[in-house]
Amino acid sequence: MRSLIINAGQLLTMAGPSGPRKGADMRSVGLVKDGAVLVEDGKILAAGPREEVLAHEGAGSARRIDAGGHVVMPGFVDSHSHPVFVHPRLGDFEARLKGKSYSQIAADGGGILSTVSSVRAARTEELAEGLAVRSKKFLACGTTTLEAKSGYGLDFDSELKMLRVIKAAAGPLELVATFLGAHALPSEFKHDRDGYLREVVSEMLPAVAAEGLACFIDVFCEKGYFSVEETRRVFAAGAKAGLGLKIHAEQLSRSGGAKLAVQAGAVSADHLDEVDEADIRLLAGSDTVACLLPGSNHFLAKPYPPARALIDAGAAVALATDFNPGTCPCWDMRQIVSMACTQMKMTPEEALVAATVNGAWALGLGKTHGVLEPGYQADLICCEAEDYRELPYYLGASPIAWTMKNGAVLHSQQDEV
Ligand code: NIG
Ligand code: FE
Repeated sequence: MRSLIINAGQLLTMAGPSGPRKGADMRSVGLVKDGAVLVEDGKILAAGPREEVLAHEGAGSARRIDAGGHVVMPGFVDSHSHPVFVHPRLGDFEARLKGKSYSQIAADGGGILSTVSSVRAARTEELAEGLAVRSKKFLACGTTTLEAKSGYGLDFDSELKMLRVIKAAAGPLELVATFLGAHALPSEFKHDRDGYLREVVSEMLPAVAAEGLACFIDVFCEKGYFSVEETRRVFAAGAKAGLGLKIHAEQLSRSGGAKLAVQAGAVSADHLDEVDEADIRLLAGSDTVACLLPGSNHFLAKPYPPARALIDAGAAVALATDFNPGTCPCWDMRQIVSMACTQMKMTPEEALVAATVNGAWALGLGKTHGVLEPGYQADLICCEAEDYRELPYYLGASPIAWTMKNGAVLHSQQDEV
């Protein structure tokens, strides 16, 4: 099946060097005016100026899709989310509005452990249904690949239940699963940290690896959650089991998690609100992607991570939603891109690179996702905009006219009327 997308007023190919984009390469979106894209069997055959693509053999007989002069670009690659849960945490939200902090709310019985109780009690079908509903929302907002973490089970059966739900939900939204057994200490292990970590590395992890349930392992490295030493232990076991490494680091306090991520060769270090200059230099000298999650800063009303300093030092920055019921109820990557520009002073070009190609590198998928060049996956979106800077500029409704995944148009605004 061959499709030809024509009449892209602005085509953003994200063409550039292979590897996480840094420095000036983060400002290059591969802009082509009046562009076209030729797609075959879910892959890009050609992308560029209309005349060049039309001259490609096979263009003549392809099914034509008119982009109406709008912006066409890679689908968003959202490299950090927690989309499997039962209820939104509205009580936590209200408590925070009255002045309680994230940590106080957790200490009072809210927070991650309150989501854990409901996920443990939930039937698999209930979790699957919730994930299916949310997946449609992500697709409608232009996300074509989404990382999805466990971490609300925190016991053998419930962590595996979450990861099986993610595996079974495969397609049309592509999900990349991450095992986050070390998200919080469950209450039954309150006085036995070592016992819980043993459970994570010696019981859950081997089962996760044997069933092929996750690509990555992640740890919430934070005061009151897991220390750098404990994270190192989980990383060592995860790497041995063949999983890539991710970390929640320096979100609420500086722990040294970012440094560990670089030393351990983690694919990404996420949040980074509290990084210091030495951390920034280390990240800049590595291929560990600095994944920033401004939606959680917005929702918790706390200062934003130092995106400018990271980019200017040469770190590869990605943007993701961190969609979860506690700290970020936002599935719309365009809104994250907008926050990145207005609140963290990223340029529109940097923010779009961070939300596509660098998101792909944060999932180890940079050679196949996030770029519109021959051989890459045909994951792309058409945005109702004449200029790509409108994406961060407008607030409110999503401008995504349609979303294409693996060469198939999955969501179109016309379907909704
Ligand atoms: O990335 N920080 C840890 N994990 C999530 C929050 C999870 C929750 O509060 O349910 C985050 O912000
Ligand atoms: Fe998170």
